[in-house]
Amino acid sequence: MGAAVSWRGLSYYGRQAALDQSGITHSVTRHKSLSDFATRRFRLAGSALLELNDPFFAQLDKLRAELSKQGKNLVSFANYDYLGLASHPLIKAEAKREIDDLGIGALASRLVGGERSTHKQFEAEIAKFIGMESALTLVSGYLANVTTIAWLMNGKKDAIFIDELAHNSIVSGTDAAVAEVIKFRHNDLDHLEHLLHKKREDYRNVLIVVEGVYSMDGDTADLPRLLDIRDRYGVWLLVDEAHSLGVLGATGRGLAEHQGVDAGRIDLVVGTLSKSLATCGGYVCAKKSIIDYFRFTLPGFVYSVGLSPVILTAARTALRLMQEETWRIEKLAANAELFRKVAHEYGFSTGPAIGRGVVPILFDSDIETMWAAQHLLEEGYYVPPVVRIGVPKDGPRLRFFFSANHTEAEIRGVIHCLKQIPPVSEEAQRIVAAAMAGSVRKSVSPDIETTSASL
Ligand SMILES: Cc1ncc(COP(=O)(O)O)c(C=O)c1O
Repeated sequence: MGAAVSWRGLSYYGRQAALDQSGITHSVTRHKSLSDFATRRFRLAGSALLELNDPFFAQLDKLRAELSKQGKNLVSFANYDYLGLASHPLIKAEAKREIDDLGIGALASRLVGGERSTHKQFEAEIAKFIGMESALTLVSGYLANVTTIAWLMNGKKDAIFIDELAHNSIVSGTDAAVAEVIKFRHNDLDHLEHLLHKKREDYRNVLIVVEGVYSMDGDTADLPRLLDIRDRYGVWLLVDEAHSLGVLGATGRGLAEHQGVDAGRIDLVVGTLSKSLATCGGYVCAKKSIIDYFRFTLPGFVYSVGLSPVILTAARTALRLMQEETWRIEKLAANAELFRKVAHEYGFSTGPAIGRGVVPILFDSDIETMWAAQHLLEEGYYVPPVVRIGVPKDGPRLRFFFSANHTEAEIRGVIHCLKQIPPVSEEAQRIVAAAMAGSVRKSVSPDIETTSASL
């Protein structure tokens, strides 16, 4: 087959035959097409579970309208609008004004295309708020982690120590870095110290990366001890405050405020505008000398467009409201604490969550988690399951994000509803088992089943 047609026109089998004729042997499995490859990988990642129900990518506006026809409200625990600012009238008004004044896009990398006064204003305000000297904004929090970690840790004699449950943006940064990557057990600083004690001398620059609030478990890192370790071992510390800005500390300044530490002692704080600041975009805060260097060299900043001035104006307004209306931070904490307390009273496990911003409910199996999400949705509570992607395979969960806008009735209501859910039906088990039957292979390399990093 294929001998008479050109190379480009050959099917997969044709290519294989031609290669075989040329004497090259293949020791790897080849896929017929990219689409075939994607379908197989998706199956291995657990697509069979979607046969039961597909709670992902829900169109919230349509869902809200449908539920309202049934006389129900949609209550979402799926969105990290921690301070309840996403639809604040002042933020909308300021964003509209900025559209009229400056248009929408930044239209180039700021280095070569110039910037708007809003860029500088926001960066000065966020750095001051957090207690650091200087800040630089990028188009996403994800990019901020990837580019900062990869750019800084670019030597073969460098090493990055990360928590085993680090967010995927941190893991991607380490994948892109030249440095060696060493994982320590989740939040286990004894383990981190043990590894540093053994290995520090082997490396030139060393970076430790932790999170202010871990996005899947809702627990925090021990910053005073990390700073002590940083000083004793002569390493650098990056704290990702994506889920702690506006969440931790009486005024929402994050982990340092929560634990009574001067934030200025941290080498790098990475954050996002997509959570408490209700928009999108990311930032890095550090000493002025570091940010001055980044402004001219950091690839994800230099070679990417500046943040939209409209988004920045909205985020600046959110930052202002956060400072003026500190009741939002208190209400968020009260809501998450109430949820954690009532969940325990009902016998649910919330893992190590401290009761701020994010609290998961842990389940024994993927199917139970999917089943619970489906039942909650039928009652008007949107809490998508987190199974396989973003958590370890043995750690399925419903992840609840809280907001200052949730009411006590909604929080008590969702747990009460969770308690009423019947066991997974035989029919549901049969559907998933049948779908799985065609998709599970005996031996699968771990990297293709799921991503183990948090999302
Ligand atoms: C810990 C952590 N870091 C970084 C990010 C990326 O932020 P963004 O979604 O704003 O790009 C996230 C996103 O959820 C996160 O959870």
